[in-house]
Amino acid sequence: MKKLLVLACLLFSGLTHAQTNSYPLIPYPASLKPGAGFFEVKASTSLIFPADAPLTSQVSQLKSLLGISGNAAGSANRIILGFDASLGNDEAYSLEVSASTIKLLGKTPVGITRGIQTLRQLLPVSAGAAKRIPSLVIKDQPAYSWRGMHLDVSRHFFTVDFIKKYIDQLAFYKFNKFHWHLTDDQGWRIEIKKYPLLTQEGAWRTLNNQDSSCIAKSKDNPDFIIDPRFLKMKDGKQVYGGYYTQEQIKEVVAYAAERSIEVIPEIDMPGHMMAAIKQYPYLSCTTDASWGKTFSTPICPCNEQTYEFAENVFSEVFDLFPSKYVHLGADEVEKTTWANSEACKELMKKEGIKNVEELQSYFIHRMQKFFTSKGKKLIGWDEILEGGIDASATLMYWRSWVKKAPYEAAKNWNEIIMTPVSTLYFDSPPGIQSVSNVYHLEVIPEGITPEQKKLFLGAQANLWTEYVPTESRAEYLYMPRMTALSEVVWTNKKNYDSFQKRLLQHYPMMEKSNIHYRLPDLTGFTEENVFVDKATLTIKKPLESYTIRYTTDGSFPEKNSPELGKGLTITKPQTIKLAAFTSTGLRGDIYTLKYQQQAYAKPVPVTGKTAGLKGSLYKKAFRSTKLMQREKADSTFTVPNVEVPQTVTAPSFGIQFRGLINVPETGVYSFFYTCDDGGILRIADRMVVDNDGNHFPIEKSGQVALSKGAHPFEADFIEGGGGFTLKLKYSLNGSEPKDIPASWFIQQ
Ligand code: ACM
Repeated sequence: MKKLLVLACLLFSGLTHAQTNSYPLIPYPASLKPGAGFFEVKASTSLIFPADAPLTSQVSQLKSLLGISGNAAGSANRIILGFDASLGNDEAYSLEVSASTIKLLGKTPVGITRGIQTLRQLLPVSAGAAKRIPSLVIKDQPAYSWRGMHLDVSRHFFTVDFIKKYIDQLAFYKFNKFHWHLTDDQGWRIEIKKYPLLTQEGAWRTLNNQDSSCIAKSKDNPDFIIDPRFLKMKDGKQVYGGYYTQEQIKEVVAYAAERSIEVIPEIDMPGHMMAAIKQYPYLSCTTDASWGKTFSTPICPCNEQTYEFAENVFSEVFDLFPSKYVHLGADEVEKTTWANSEACKELMKKEGIKNVEELQSYFIHRMQKFFTSKGKKLIGWDEILEGGIDASATLMYWRSWVKKAPYEAAKNWNEIIMTPVSTLYFDSPPGIQSVSNVYHLEVIPEGITPEQKKLFLGAQANLWTEYVPTESRAEYLYMPRMTALSEVVWTNKKNYDSFQKRLLQHYPMMEKSNIHYRLPDLTGFTEENVFVDKATLTIKKPLESYTIRYTTDGSFPEKNSPELGKGLTITKPQTIKLAAFTSTGLRGDIYTLKYQQQAYAKPVPVTGKTAGLKGSLYKKAFRSTKLMQREKADSTFTVPNVEVPQTVTAPSFGIQFRGLINVPETGVYSFFYTCDDGGILRIADRMVVDNDGNHFPIEKSGQVALSKGAHPFEADFIEGGGGFTLKLKYSLNGSEPKDIPASWFIQQ
């Protein structure tokens, strides 16, 4: 009996696992029970919903999604919308699909909106395919109430159409907050009727250093071209800019609301206000708008006119955005002009304010009183903690290096939204803040008490656009990483293998929505390659629909470059550039593979008997591994493998690993060396991997042709401070990279 039960369980879990992978749902529902068969949407499918319920936008979205009028009375094939008060939270929904009926119930209309996205993801991607939805039962609800994506439209501007496209993607992945960073030093982007110069003049700037950097990069990558739609001539000069009228803002807010997404505006002050100060100079303590030592001159918190301006601006903002939350920014304030101001000295004396941090706090408190009087809740970046905040402010945590900030905010009973720069700043290249890093984010930091946990509303990714001048670049940066975040904040569960499989099924959906997403990495090869007689280059395609194209003349692969196909035979030293292409013409990242010819290195005699490697430790910060050669080691030790012993506690150090590597067979060996900061690997007196310098964790790879037997082995590693990463793996004959067995090392 027991045995049978175990067998049944195994069979059942095997079945559900296989099924899990066939439901391309991101985020994955809290509970999903597969059924048999499917529902097929037909022209005659009827749509039944309570006539008195506020479901207009849900009904119209469903009709357009399924291409039905929904009016066929008495159809046996029907979709029923309704409510179920017993469901978990306001965004919860249940979805039952059988051959004859789809029943979608929400606790509120918002839950129904979320359930419609589940249906959308279950439909076939191909336009011509029958609209079949697999039978199943889903019960679903989000883990966190703040599931946000941010967009900075000040540094570079984006059209209303693009904002709507962005909101469509937020909706598809069940996000519920769009944080719109509308003002900054580089441009004021929201019409304020009382202060027309803010947009007439403040929305336009001459090209700056960030544009120059984009223009330089645009030679190799068209995603960096400055979007010509936002360039114009003004007073004989070329300027860049744009802004949203109040009508356009209302249009975006309504569009988002139809998709149950709240728009949170950010008007960043007292710092980041150069665009405004230039037009209204009385706002700064010095009537000057310039750059200080760190950031731009802020507005003056010691001047009543500042409060009049700020309150007038926010009054118009409050009228445009129904959201309870409004973001006041308050990050990165350069306070020198305050310290030198007579008005500030006087105010500080009068109010008993001890320093400029408290002055910032005074500004926030006054603004917060105003927000509260208008029924709004103030959000600020985590700098608002400095100088003290009251418990009703909501803190957006970004400075990953200020580790204590979320703990202090929780102790003070502030609500907290996590947007750590280390993981959720999507303006960083995706290679560093990878899909995997985002997926493995823990929203609530370790050591938070159970009562404090509810203060953590959720998480949000930020997309700052200093170096994002086009829609394509924005999409490349946020997609697919936002899909990983959506699963983190909706499910608060991790199953990365399952997620990766489902993500592969989402790329065609992104192509259908015309999203310029970042293609998955190509893997299974090294950048520095070695061959003895000849080598065959083959690349495993992440998706069957992709094509790998290559060049041998140093140019970038293009849509008409030759296809790699089943493989390319290399018989002479050369450099190959290759990239994956989608059938819609998107190109993935370009890889450069160098090939050099080598003879198999001859083995050396083994004289030593001690296993492992000799390590020499230098307790000093180095910029390059070479600089260790000038120093005397502080200590030496034996290690079983290329690893930093636990006894090394210095924040900055360098280690040289020396010995022999005894390889079991003749072949071309690949090595994968991940270093933070830097390292180099030499085997048989040949440079195999050069990953030198001070940098974040980067994997670099190389090859060496070795005869069976022992060869001189030299690995150098440096760590400049702030935590290290050191990994060395190998592969032979195209195997997956694996750890080097300790038994291969011997000291000479
Ligand atoms: C920020 O990144 N300055 C909030």
